[in-house]
Amino acid sequence: MKEIPFYVTWTNQTGALTLDIASAKGPHYITRNGKKILDLSSTSYQAAFGHSDKEIIKAITDQLKVLPIASPKLVFDLKQKVTQKLLQLLKLKGKIFYTVSGAESVENAIKISRQFSGKKYILARKNSYHGASLGALSLTGDWRAKDHLTLSKWTKRIPEPKNDPHAVEFEKLIKKVGAHNIAAICLETVTGGNGVIVAPKTWWKAVARFKKEYGILIILDEVVCGFGRLGTAFGFQQFPIKPDIVCMAKIITGGYIPFGAVWTNSKIAKFYDKQILSCGLTSYAHPLGLAAMNIVIDKIQSPEHNRRFSLLHDELETWSSIFSNLDQVKEVRHIGLLMAIELKTPIPTKSFLDKSILLASVGNNLIIAPNYVTKSSQLKKALTAVKEVIEGKNDK
Ligand SMILES: Cc1ncc(COP(=O)(O)O)c(C=O)c1O
Repeated sequence: MKEIPFYVTWTNQTGALTLDIASAKGPHYITRNGKKILDLSSTSYQAAFGHSDKEIIKAITDQLKVLPIASPKLVFDLKQKVTQKLLQLLKLKGKIFYTVSGAESVENAIKISRQFSGKKYILARKNSYHGASLGALSLTGDWRAKDHLTLSKWTKRIPEPKNDPHAVEFEKLIKKVGAHNIAAICLETVTGGNGVIVAPKTWWKAVARFKKEYGILIILDEVVCGFGRLGTAFGFQQFPIKPDIVCMAKIITGGYIPFGAVWTNSKIAKFYDKQILSCGLTSYAHPLGLAAMNIVIDKIQSPEHNRRFSLLHDELETWSSIFSNLDQVKEVRHIGLLMAIELKTPIPTKSFLDKSILLASVGNNLIIAPNYVTKSSQLKKALTAVKEVIEGKNDK
């Protein structure tokens, strides 16, 4: 690999794993020498419609010709119409704040929850990922930083649901920190990249009770789970919980445009009628993001999507039991089109790339999150190759 003048993320730079790509089509990346690599984790979970979706591309290119850039404060038809559409998809009343990434959605959710509640602490799980941008505000020196101090000292860790299915220890933590100090509980609805952990209903019911009894806001991070990944428009629609704030990004535009959104409930929206919302960004509600989201919402509600989704889901279900029976596998967890194969010993991403498969290998977990456009036959073939790698059949 020749030297590259840019950083590779989340790794030391010497010998970092990279892939030399010429183009992409459907569920595949295509290398310079024409090798097709099946994208089995939808890239970083965002490329749910593959890499050459004509409708999303058309929506973006059409928008480019009409209104390619818009000042954050502008009101225009697309912004009005698509925001209403997003609220309908959420099946919640309230307001939307737009961002350009998942991390930014989470940062703004934290800021809003702290400002609204007047409290500082956020409870979050250890086994979680919410984005890379923490701390930007602690460096900010002007009036915008006033309500938003360094976060780490204000974060407390919730015990894992597996070890605390009735949230008894969780409640003890709330009492220890003091409900009067806690602005919000921030949770991935289903833990995504860190192992597809689905918390039991008993735990969610306790979280719902904490919200009611202690008046703590619930922030759900739907950056991975949103826009159909778990089989419903949003993941939380499958669990007994009503959030106050929802963070969105990734599939919101199928990954074609960096974009994100934060939903807040009506009470929070009302609060900002008089209070200054000290949140904002240059590319707020970017028209290209709105145009892409508009078509994405249509796509995940189409009968064709439902048909394909069930086929892929059934295929994953079959493979879930196949993988579970392998000696090398500790556990398989699976919901919608998201699956973690927890191995006894980790296998690096490179071993799968050698079999023309791109997937996320995170610690001991292999995360499978196929594009919604992958054919079941392609999925079957790819998972057969994954099985061979796990069984060590690719050893040269
Ligand atoms: C659950 C979750 N939240 C937030 C983020 C951050 O999103 P972004 O990388 O777009 O900032 C990620 C990224 O993988 C994520 O998985």
